[in-house]
Amino acid sequence: MMQASFLVLFLEPIRPYLEDDSVSEILINGSRAVYIERKGRLEKIDVAFVSEAALRAAAANIAKSVGRLLNDEYPRLDARLPDGSRVHAVIPPLCTCGTVIAIRKFSKDLLTVDKLLQSGSCSASMIRLIETMVKLHKNLIVSGATSSGKTSILNLLSSFISSQERILLIEDACELQLRQPHVVPFETRKPDKDGNGEVSIRDLIHSALRLRPDRLVIGEIRGAEAIDLLQAMNTGHSGSMSTIHANSPLDALYRLETCSLFSGFDIPISALRGQIAGAVNGLIHTSRLSDGTRKIIAVSEVLPLQGGEYRVQELMRWRTTALEPDGHISGIFEKCNAIPTFKTEAELSRLPLE
Ligand SMILES: Nc1ncnc2c1ncn2[C@@H]1O[C@H](COP(=O)(O)OP(=O)(O)OP(=O)(O)O)[C@@H](O)[C@H]1O
Ligand SMILES: [Mg+2]
Repeated sequence: MMQASFLVLFLEPIRPYLEDDSVSEILINGSRAVYIERKGRLEKIDVAFVSEAALRAAAANIAKSVGRLLNDEYPRLDARLPDGSRVHAVIPPLCTCGTVIAIRKFSKDLLTVDKLLQSGSCSASMIRLIETMVKLHKNLIVSGATSSGKTSILNLLSSFISSQERILLIEDACELQLRQPHVVPFETRKPDKDGNGEVSIRDLIHSALRLRPDRLVIGEIRGAEAIDLLQAMNTGHSGSMSTIHANSPLDALYRLETCSLFSGFDIPISALRGQIAGAVNGLIHTSRLSDGTRKIIAVSEVLPLQGGEYRVQELMRWRTTALEPDGHISGIFEKCNAIPTFKTEAELSRLPLE
């Protein structure tokens, strides 16, 4: 209940949904079209704002409350509120349906291993394999589409890091909730209204590398910072982890490639691919299935390049077996035939592979 109090100040018409912990997102497309996400599914709700002007004023107030502007000159707002909720807003004429606001409510309820298992998001053997990869200091990337559960799974991964390690955490907006005692969290800063003072993920990675990290945890790779993360992973900061938007584990590697090229770093593509295949050890792919459930659908390992091409081997995966008439998707988590390259390493450390 407490968590939504801040937004309630401005968004009275949607108060019940802000206060309802079973609602994870609220999407406002102009004053008359409001949708919520509950249990992974979107539904249109029967509420309306008094007018477009009232909705726009509410959005401007949200911006003001966090020291930002939302007006003709700055028509887009990306903000994290004091209660942890994430808000993105865009005002007309950029959106033609009226003011658009998306609220990702902050969930204090961490997705624990037990909860993930109960909801069928993964299998116990998948969790054991992932924990082993974290404990062996493999560099891991969580991939998946928008809102597929990447950040939640990164949070789970980070929970397997030993409390003896010094973790440097870098995010655009604080979302991850690490429980270890020795965490140094950083958050990027947007440029001010004159375009000055920006501190990017890249800048923070540079600082983090000078602050003796045992592990780097980066909330999300979206652009040029990919090259910095790859270099960190390749230069002895093993056990680093992040997320990236991608449609498949293999696509995650191509996305890292594209993001690295944004940096303007002049490196032949074959060399860049070698760096990526050398840096990233494991890929954990998440998906939101059509029945609204979110799952880890593949745990894969990145192998050395062959003929200049990436190779990814699946170690465990979700296999859909039936689509029920009510839309429910049945299936199983299964172990694949591949033998992990870190099998001996895991056995020597007495860590399970399944
Ligand atoms: N396995 C899961 N079971 C149930 N709910 C989940 C699961 N994973 C994530 N969620 C919920 O789904 C929403 C989106 O999750 P999350 O932020 O982790 O996704 P994301 O892929 O990082 O999204 P984005 O693309 O916006 O960064 C959150 O409300 C989260 O609590
Ligand atoms: Mg995320």
